[in-house]
Amino acid sequence: MKNNANLWRSGYGGAAPVRVAIGSDHAGFEMKEILKEYVKSLGHAVEDFGAPSSDPVDYPDIGYKVAREVASGRFDRGILICGTGIGMSIVANKVPGVRAALVGDTETARLAREHNDANILALGARVVRPEYVRDIVRVFLETSFAGGRHARRVEKIALGEAGKGK
Ligand code: RB5
Repeated sequence: MKNNANLWRSGYGGAAPVRVAIGSDHAGFEMKEILKEYVKSLGHAVEDFGAPSSDPVDYPDIGYKVAREVASGRFDRGILICGTGIGMSIVANKVPGVRAALVGDTETARLAREHNDANILALGARVVRPEYVRDIVRVFLETSFAGGRHARRVEKIALGEAGKGK
């Protein structure tokens, strides 16, 4: 219940369409195919950066591609899927301008957007509850950054990336 309880709280509300870059390794391939169609059905644009099948690939190869696309501004959000989501989130967070969040519930998805202005959602296909994953994606894509005090904190992340953090 808790997972769905906050779907309709502040920040969520069928926001404007976003451009989504999606990618996975072999472990996340099946979930990527399902989520691609789901994201389209919500009215958002989605581009697939691989993997092209469930043949083994190395998650950094796909993770860096999607992360760079998001950091470049060509896409508003990214979705990266591997077995646990951990490898993809580690990779994505090495690209300046990316704030990747490893999420397994809708409340964390909402807070990752509202508080952290996360621009990449990392999912663990082998661990996330399948009945929650569509809602997690929808909340992540359609929740706005809250700004205010959170903007100052996110700016400090960027300062740290530039070697000017405290
Ligand atoms: C692949 O077996 C697995 O290691 C990968 O999908 C991911 O979970 C790494 O973090």
